[in-house]
Amino acid sequence: MADQSAPQDSPAKAWSGRFSEPVSDLVKRYTASVFFDNRMAAQDIRGSLAHATMLARQGIIGATDLADIERGMAQIAGEIERGEFTWNLDDEDVHLNIEKRLTALVGDAGKRLHTGRSRNDQVATDIRLWLRDAIDTILGLIRDLQLALLDLAEHHANTALPGFTHLQVAQPVTFGHHLMAYFEMTRRDAERFADCRRRVNRLPLGSAALAGTTYPIDREYVAELLGFEEVCFNSLDAVSDRDFAIEFCAAVSLLMTHLSRLSEELILWMSPRVGFIDLADRFCTGSSIMPQKKNPDVPELVRGKTGRVNGSLIALLTLMKGQPLAYNKDNQEDKEPLFDAADTAIDTLRIYADMMGSRLENGAKVFNVRVKPAAMQAALTQGYATATDLADYLVKKGLPFRDAHEAVALAVRAADAKGCDLPQIPLAELQAAMAHVPGAVERLAGDVFEVLTVDGSLASRDHIGGTAPTQVRAAIARARQRLG
Ligand code: ARG
Repeated sequence: MADQSAPQDSPAKAWSGRFSEPVSDLVKRYTASVFFDNRMAAQDIRGSLAHATMLARQGIIGATDLADIERGMAQIAGEIERGEFTWNLDDEDVHLNIEKRLTALVGDAGKRLHTGRSRNDQVATDIRLWLRDAIDTILGLIRDLQLALLDLAEHHANTALPGFTHLQVAQPVTFGHHLMAYFEMTRRDAERFADCRRRVNRLPLGSAALAGTTYPIDREYVAELLGFEEVCFNSLDAVSDRDFAIEFCAAVSLLMTHLSRLSEELILWMSPRVGFIDLADRFCTGSSIMPQKKNPDVPELVRGKTGRVNGSLIALLTLMKGQPLAYNKDNQEDKEPLFDAADTAIDTLRIYADMMGSRLENGAKVFNVRVKPAAMQAALTQGYATATDLADYLVKKGLPFRDAHEAVALAVRAADAKGCDLPQIPLAELQAAMAHVPGAVERLAGDVFEVLTVDGSLASRDHIGGTAPTQVRAAIARARQRLG
């Protein structure tokens, strides 16, 4: 009998050995999160220490327990830092791995740590601590990028290029003004992250599994120890909702959308067909087959990675939408998209701040975006960039705007036929072109050529938000003041 029941001799066992073992390994792997959530180890230890400190202060555990926990956690933190900690799939996640090691190191005190809490409020706390740090990093990096943008914008406060609508030449703008548009976008991005941080910075711990706990805990004290602004006010909500992570991903998506738009412009401007800028070599790569190529890989990847962070946002939204209260294991799937979105934002900002920045060469500041003002200027002579200025000129002389619009449309037709830009048409020909718009001819005089120049056009848009170089400089000064 004994021999027959030995696993290696039993046909049933051999069968189950073939099936159940691999399946159970698969399930273990499928349900474990330790190999991605162990990046929250520092936050997990910090949260546990605050929890233990509170438990001791409330008399729920003893002072020696706390001392043991602190000693054990210090050792574990060192092991993790030195890469000596063994992460074990059998222990599922970062929380259980650390707790198990703590118990191995300090015995019963380790087993007492989990009093009055659950992994549900523990993980929610860890994510918030982690995300708060990520947001602070992102806010610092947005500032770095903004400082780079301001420097470049200031250098090009006078540099004219065509402004486009529908990708058709519209009106002259300065390159500084154009860059300041991105400054404004990133300013709103920073506001969004700062605002999101307020809602991240609330403490779930104390909610326990879902309903709170029977121990006389002091949640406010834990919040204070961990730097949370307040506690989450409903235990069911605190352990289950991940709206703060979704909100963060939405902010990342918008940030990346802005950088993707700028990337698209850099790519376009760098195309030899446009030739407005050149990017420093270290942000580009060559082709393995076409020796002449210098490809703007970094901006292209920023554009590409924007799709990736949008994916993270949708993943989290979808993760949440069907979940009943309170915690469900679905939520374990929040981490990878969240981490990936944060990593992508951080790497992108770091590289972008550098790409838009400058370096010193022989004591002189050299910008990594090399602007080619002559090419921009040449582009301004095609597409009738000052046509609106001509219409405005006629309006200021008393012609109703719609008539002025019509008169200028005729002038543009004449310029088209002649194959030149508006300022190149002699006054008499301009007048002839708009002859059958009543009141146009007598309002057109020699001074019109002042407004038809690019510089005249730029200088005349002289109000807050306008492209006049004086306004661009004022906007830069305001921005610098705000950044402090
Ligand atoms: N690893 C889990 C997560 O990320 C921790 C919480 C597990 N809680 C539970 N009741 N199984 O969500």
